[in-house]
Amino acid sequence: MKPDLPPTLALLLRYLVLAYLAGSVLFTIHFFFLQYRGSQPTPSVKPRTMTEQGQATFDVENIMYSQQIMKWKTSENYPEHEIEEDAVLHKVFSNTMQPSKVLPYYFKAIRDFDPESVTITTLITFDRYPIFSKLVTNYQGPISVSIHINDDENRDENLSKLHDMYEANPYMREFVDVHVVVDKFDRQFNMWRNVARFFARSNYFMMLDVDFHICTNLQRHLSLDAEARQVMQSGAAVVLPAFEYVEQDDGIDSATFPKNKESLIRLVQEKKVTTFHDFFPKGHNATDYEQWYNTNSVYKVMAYQHSYEPYVILKKEGTPWCDERFVGYGANKAACLFEIYISGIDYWVLPQDFVIHQSHPYKEETRKQERKYNRKLYQNFQEEACFRYASTFMRARQWDKPKSENLKQQCNKIRGFKAVMAQFAAASGVQGSA
Ligand SMILES: *[C@@H]1O[C@H](CO)[C@@H](O)[C@H](O)[C@H]1NC(C)=O
Ligand SMILES: *[C@@H]1O[C@H](CO)[C@@H](O)[C@H](O)[C@H]1NC(C)=O
Repeated sequence: MKPDLPPTLALLLRYLVLAYLAGSVLFTIHFFFLQYRGSQPTPSVKPRTMTEQGQATFDVENIMYSQQIMKWKTSENYPEHEIEEDAVLHKVFSNTMQPSKVLPYYFKAIRDFDPESVTITTLITFDRYPIFSKLVTNYQGPISVSIHINDDENRDENLSKLHDMYEANPYMREFVDVHVVVDKFDRQFNMWRNVARFFARSNYFMMLDVDFHICTNLQRHLSLDAEARQVMQSGAAVVLPAFEYVEQDDGIDSATFPKNKESLIRLVQEKKVTTFHDFFPKGHNATDYEQWYNTNSVYKVMAYQHSYEPYVILKKEGTPWCDERFVGYGANKAACLFEIYISGIDYWVLPQDFVIHQSHPYKEETRKQERKYNRKLYQNFQEEACFRYASTFMRARQWDKPKSENLKQQCNKIRGFKAVMAQFAAASGVQGSA
């Protein structure tokens, strides 16, 4: 016999059952809704497939997802915490066009590098793979390269070409770290430069365009030349003079290039080789080639001006980064070197080493518009950088120190700069004038 419940209690039970049913239906709907949302692009984060060193560190299918974690350690007893790589990189490259996905160490070289060695940092696009491979074979030292892959229907095909390139040359897995940038923006040169430098694994980096051939044994010369090494260690920029062949055809095969300064000077005297882009002297003439031909020791660049764009070795820490607002051809490297110079970093020229351009036809169409835009941007940038660094130096009480000299020399060319800084100095009670 079923015991009779009092009617109110029975009613209550019925309501409870109903409420339970309604609740579980809602819960199920909610659950499926979340599942559905989870299958939409954003949340579901897939791990990179970690493979052996020297292999791709993730598979193409999961390209937009990463679960790399940056660990944040604090001294001893404080808890360690973690920040996702994506969050870190989003801040690191927050001045670039977004969305942009940086994949650090897409390939990582198996070697450990000497912290005192020079990492070549460079950028390549898909048409430069062959010349890059030559650079790798020639240098046989650490290289950190940024490769841009367009986020379009060719993405996977282009990535697989990258794999082919990496696997085709055994020196790649010895020396080359590849960082891939996947987005829809062509020619974010300064961002790509920063990517290559950021992930470089030694204390010095050289900003080199991929089509330049380092003709000499740079690493050996640096190890022998104590004075040059000291200049480098002090944080100065070290310049490798740049040359090119007069006849394009002579400049195609780097195997035929001179291997020391004597042979180079002979070719210059025979007028077969000339200083790089001598139709635009301001790009390189501050290197003072006449002095270079006649010296055996490192010397300081005395005639820097804002169009100077030599190939330099720099210290990784403490050197300003390339401004990422420069996208496309024109002024991007000059702007980078300008900021470095006015930040108080001097340029010095290495006596034995040099680079020669390997000829190739230029595509000029897209370049023209971009150059025009960047020229304008560069004018504004110089003014802004001058005021930014000047006020930093003032506040840091360095306005009357040698560190400010490069800035004063360059920025006093800007109309009104000297007067404004004098007022600023007076108002903040800082010694010294511009
Ligand atoms: C991708 O591949 C296509 C077709 O092979 C090529 O035209 C294009 O330049 C490549 N793009 C990039 C960014 O590598
Ligand atoms: C570099 O070239 C420019 C333009 O021809 C010239 O005005 C300048 O004096 C040259 N500088 C040096 C250091 O030779």
